[in-house]
Amino acid sequence: MNILGINAYHANASAALVCDGQLVAAAEEERFNRVKYAAGFPVAAIRYCLKAAGLAISDIDHIAVPRNPWARMGAKLLYAMRMPRFARERAKAWASFADIPQALAKSFEIDPKRIRAQFHRVEHHRAHLASAFFVSPFDRAALLSADGLGDFASTMWATGEGSRMRIHGSIAFPHSLGIYYTALTQYLGFWSFGDEYKVMGLAAYGEPTYIEEFRRVVRDDGATFRLDLEYFSHHRHGAEMSWREADKTPALGRLFSDYLEKRLGLARRPDAPLERKHKDIAASLQARLEEILFQKLKGLYAQTGTKALCLAGGVAFNCVANGKIFSQVPFEKVFIQPAAGDAGLALGAAFYVWHAVLRQPRSFQMRHASWGPDYSSSEIRAAMEEKRLFEAGFDVSELSEEQLLKDTAQHIAQGDVVGWFSGRAEWGPRALGNRSILADPRRPEMKDILNRRIKHRESFRPFAPSILAESAGEFFENAHPSPFMTFAYPLRPDKRQALPAATHVDGTCRLQTVAHDDNQRYWKVIREFAKLTGIPAVINTSFNDNEPIVCSPGEAIDYFGRTHMDVLVMGNYVVCKRTSADGKQFSEFASSLEPNVASRSRS
Ligand SMILES: [Fe+2]
Repeated sequence: MNILGINAYHANASAALVCDGQLVAAAEEERFNRVKYAAGFPVAAIRYCLKAAGLAISDIDHIAVPRNPWARMGAKLLYAMRMPRFARERAKAWASFADIPQALAKSFEIDPKRIRAQFHRVEHHRAHLASAFFVSPFDRAALLSADGLGDFASTMWATGEGSRMRIHGSIAFPHSLGIYYTALTQYLGFWSFGDEYKVMGLAAYGEPTYIEEFRRVVRDDGATFRLDLEYFSHHRHGAEMSWREADKTPALGRLFSDYLEKRLGLARRPDAPLERKHKDIAASLQARLEEILFQKLKGLYAQTGTKALCLAGGVAFNCVANGKIFSQVPFEKVFIQPAAGDAGLALGAAFYVWHAVLRQPRSFQMRHASWGPDYSSSEIRAAMEEKRLFEAGFDVSELSEEQLLKDTAQHIAQGDVVGWFSGRAEWGPRALGNRSILADPRRPEMKDILNRRIKHRESFRPFAPSILAESAGEFFENAHPSPFMTFAYPLRPDKRQALPAATHVDGTCRLQTVAHDDNQRYWKVIREFAKLTGIPAVINTSFNDNEPIVCSPGEAIDYFGRTHMDVLVMGNYVVCKRTSADGKQFSEFASSLEPNVASRSRS
């Protein structure tokens, strides 16, 4: 039984393929079309999933789409009567969804009649909840989904048991923790789609001196919460996402009102300096999110009586809040799958159909994020030849696995910045040891080196460590597993100086715990580094620079050539930069590469 989940015509377009209850492949469209957070129809991701399983589109039995136009129809109609534009946008979106079988037939150039799959619409937040619970290690768990908006709701909570989910409640538009966070992110001058994590990083530099104001912005309503709509504009103008026609980059209009500026002062312009006030507002924003979230989770704990929790939706990416759950709420285990945001809807919709619709028992657990494309050694070599790597003066070695791991660890320990391309691309927005840039966390200067030479990002944003799972308790006060880099924990007082380049200003790290059985190769390279240095952790940042994480060997080589990275490890090859014997400089090589697609699309 083959089930294809498709998140289409929505940010983070993606596809996931579940065959007989086992996840076979999952990927975001952005990794293929190289447009960050790409919306539209994920034809390349679908193509990849089918190829990974050796299937044709005509072999698919069920297609699951994470949107149900009939959900909350009464509320939508009432709103549409006041907002004709909303009605027009909804009608357009529904037409797009109804056209998915046609879009598939067109993309795969087959007669629509050959697509025999049964079509299922799964409500947005049910798909989010399913994306976490049905791939979690828990047979019974409390479930919470929280994001900006989907199917006219922002929040949903439930109990998961076996292959069923019992929904307890939801919070409808216009009240939304996601919109609250995004609106204030915009106010603080961060307008790009997906910038909320920057403000979360900024919050650590401030004090929550505006908390009383923010308690008015989001009111605690006992079991639920409400936004004070005077501070917002989305209920008047709509909060629907749009995307640029040219490259399908998603965008949201202004969500905050003039009243917010009256209360807090004029919004920060994107190019204005970050002042103390902005940091304090970020800290207050974060503190109020945590208050509301923990209040909600306490209620959910009391309601469900289970010590296991699954989180999904964009709010589940707030690793700072996630890391505090264990000390604030009696949950003992928390699972968040790596694509907790809207990309994960494709996964959730597919598993929802397998379990909740087809009533099949649970048999799959997501232990790693390696669900994207893989490349053979010969494909890697072919890419190196095509990019003329051997002729460009690089030092290229093909090594045994053992030697490669030792050499890589040695490079990291001596201060080199290493591109690490290994196995299948990750599912979700975090590099987790397959498409990562690795560096030495012991060197205080490494953060600036990475920012200056490679990543070009805001100086206040921290880098994150990957640590051997068995060593996490030795370094962190909270050693709950964080295999997908979704929790931030404080370092133990005696380890505060151990990882200076991967520790945030508040003494926490957004860590990835790496277990041997989940990613053996990555675990081994960290262990080699530990043998050399006594530190069982490396800096792990994503293999990109303000563009989607690299997917193919060719993209990794292009990126290696464009930046001041020292070493590239791909498969069994180690490539080091050095000046060639004929004096040819690497700038010549870089200039021969494909232009940066992301830069091209921005220009
Ligand atoms: Fe969502």
